[in-house]
Amino acid sequence: MSREPRWNKIKSEISSCSRCPLSLSRAKVVPGEGNLYSDIVLLGEAPGRSEDEEGRPFVGAAGKLLDKVIDEVGFKREQLFITNVVKCRPPNNREPRLDEIITCSYFTDEIISLVNPNIVVALGNYAGYYLFELKGSVKWVGVTKMRGRAYRLSILGSWRWLVPTYHPAAVLYNPKLYEVFKEDISLLKKVFSDMKDSSRGLLKFIESRR
Ligand code: URA
Repeated sequence: MSREPRWNKIKSEISSCSRCPLSLSRAKVVPGEGNLYSDIVLLGEAPGRSEDEEGRPFVGAAGKLLDKVIDEVGFKREQLFITNVVKCRPPNNREPRLDEIITCSYFTDEIISLVNPNIVVALGNYAGYYLFELKGSVKWVGVTKMRGRAYRLSILGSWRWLVPTYHPAAVLYNPKLYEVFKEDISLLKKVFSDMKDSSRGLLKFIESRR
């Protein structure tokens, strides 16, 4: 079934949302964008100035870095779906508050359930906390300790791979993290390729038994 009608409904609900105070200071809502049928959702923190102006996720400096690494490991941005734990820019780029993340989780959950990805990438501590602790019932002990491996967790009713990594803005701030970030996005590529191989293998097995 086509996912576009439900996505349009979610976007229009986000556009008129006034559930939290971030709605008072935003210029544009940033619901997310990408392939609604993707196997991979990238979850970030919150829109910044450029995103707030354009209404699109990761279009500023951190977004450029993310695009570069995605490209270097052989993905195309259009293949993926990208959203954030909060859909409106916090004033002066302050960090999102827990109550804002929880209020916006109504939409975050809707988006993840709609795209229904096999893999979710947590970009930074806020996305990590949301996915592991709020949705996966696994204690989030910080990106530095959690990154570097893929976790199999039941999130929003399905088993999914979770790949935690640094937020691209942290990588911009500390260029020494660039290679580590790239390693994590390469791990994402590997999890994705292994998943494709095993579903192809399963299809072959089923065909061989016909
Ligand atoms: N940082 C984020 O977490 N999300 C964006 O969309 C842009 C910058």
